[in-house]
Amino acid sequence: MNRTVSLVALALAAALPQLAAAQAAATPGDPNRGAQKIQMCQGCHGIVGWRTAFPEVYRVPKLSGQNPAYLVAALKEYKSGDRSHPSMRAIAGSLTDQDMADLAAYYAQTPLTTANR
Ligand code: HEC
Repeated sequence: MNRTVSLVALALAAALPQLAAAQAAATPGDPNRGAQKIQMCQGCHGIVGWRTAFPEVYRVPKLSGQNPAYLVAALKEYKSGDRSHPSMRAIAGSLTDQDMADLAAYYAQTPLTTANR
């Protein structure tokens, strides 16, 4: 009896780390790949204090240094329509899950810059 219980415990202990790793790796982002995809973002997000003029004058949020999970969640919300900004919806709609993960990984590792730079 005791032996069976400890065998089950052993099997569970062996399986758990793999489960956790599989989840974390759902869509792993690669910052180097992300760096090759930012051309279409930097025009708006790369300039400190930049504002877009469409559909109205908009402050463009900074992406650098943000939590990658937050960035991916935001992009998915634009793609699904839960967030409604028209330019971001069009852009996010063209991104795959892999693109989003790569872009988020890139922006997350970019240090926050101040307006003085
Ligand atoms: C035409 C200008 C423009 C381009 C190009 C653009 N964005 Fe945006 N982005 C915006 C604006 C404006 C907002 C704020 C919209 C809002 O209020 O929902 C925004 C919001 C975001 C947000 C949410 C940020 C937050 O703090 O909630 C993310 C993430 C984002 N953009 C990622 C990207 C990525 C990645 C790309 C390139 C694939 C990109 N954007 C290209 C203008 C742009």
